[in-house]
Amino acid sequence: MYILGLEGTAHTIGSSVVTDTGDVLSNISKTYQGKEGIHPREAANHHSSNILGIIKESIDVAGIEKDDIDVVSFSQGPGLGPCLRTTATAARSLSLSLDVPLVGVNHCIAHLEIGRLMTGAENPILLYVSGGNTQVIAFRKGRYRVFGETLDIGLGNMLDKFGREKGMTFPAGPVIEEKAKEGKKLIDLPYSVKGMDVEFSGIMTAALNEDATIEDLCFSLQETTFAMLTEVTERALAHIRKDEVLLGGGVVQNKRLQSMIKTMTEERGAEYYVPEAQYCVDNAAMIAWTGYIMYDAGISISVEESNIKQKFRTDEVEVSWR
Ligand code: ATP
Ligand code: FE2
Repeated sequence: MYILGLEGTAHTIGSSVVTDTGDVLSNISKTYQGKEGIHPREAANHHSSNILGIIKESIDVAGIEKDDIDVVSFSQGPGLGPCLRTTATAARSLSLSLDVPLVGVNHCIAHLEIGRLMTGAENPILLYVSGGNTQVIAFRKGRYRVFGETLDIGLGNMLDKFGREKGMTFPAGPVIEEKAKEGKKLIDLPYSVKGMDVEFSGIMTAALNEDATIEDLCFSLQETTFAMLTEVTERALAHIRKDEVLLGGGVVQNKRLQSMIKTMTEERGAEYYVPEAQYCVDNAAMIAWTGYIMYDAGISISVEESNIKQKFRTDEVEVSWR
C-alpha cells in the first residue's frame, strides 16, 4: 500500500510517499525563507507555487504512478491559517481526483509517530522543540497528552527573533549554536519554569538588554533555556513513569541540547532517542506515516469535514491506533 502525505503548517511545504510497512520512498520539501521572519500569506504563496512540483517529484522519486496511491493524508493543524489552507486544498483535490480516502493528521502527533518508527522507541516522552512549538508529550489513557509546554512562543521563534535583532541570518538557531561554542561567561538570565510550563519572551528581552559579547549571550541563552527544557522533561519522566525520551522538532538538532537531555536521560536509567535530522524538522514523511497508521485503525474524513484547525490540540485526537 502507498500513502502520500502533505506537510504545510508553517515554513515548510513537503510531500512524501511511504508504504504500509514503514518504508519512506520519498520525502521532498521546500522551505520558505522570510527575511523578516514568517509572513503567513507569503509563506502560503510560496507553498502554492511549489506544491504541484513537489507532489510530482515525490511520486517520481518513489518510483510509482499516481494511480498507485491508496490514501492521501495532510497536516490539518496546528499552524498558520493560510499555509494550512493551501496544503488542505491540494490534499482534497488529490483525494477526489484519485478517488482515495483522505486523512487529517495532527502535526505534533506526527512528530512523535515518525520518531517511534525511525528509532524504535515504543512508549516515549517526546520533547518537541521547533520554531512555533515547544511541548512535552506522552501517551496516557488513550490520548497523547501535553505534560508541559511554552506559555508564550516556541523556543525556535525566540532564537530566530533574538538573531534578527542581532543581525544574524535566518534561521538563527544554528548561528547561535556556533557562537555559543565560543562563549565563556554565564550571564544571569531569568529562568522561567512555571510548574511544568516554560516561557521564553522575558529571557530574550533580558538578553537583548545585557551588555555582553554576542558569544556569551548565545551561550547563556542556550544554557538557560536548555536547562529549563531538561528540568521539565526530567520531571515528566519521573511523574508519568516512562523510561524513554524521544526528541523532535528543528531545535533538537542542537548538539548542546541533545547532550543535556542525553545526560539527564542516562542518569535516570532511561533510553534516549533522536531521529536523523530530516525526520526532526518539519517533514511530510511524518504526515504520510501517521496518515497510514490512522487509516489502518479505520480513521478517515470526508472532504466536508476536512476543515483546517489552526489551534489543533494534541490531546483532541483519540489515539485508537495504540
Ligand atoms: P513548527 O511548525 O513545528 O513550529 P518550524 O516551521 O519552526 O516548525 P522546524 O524545522 O521544526 O520548523 O524548526 C525550525 C526551527 O529550528 C527554527 O526556529 C531554527 O532556528 C531552529 N533550529 C534549527 N537548527 C537549530 C540549531 N542547531 N540550534 C537551535 N535551533 C535550531
Ligand atoms: Fe513541527
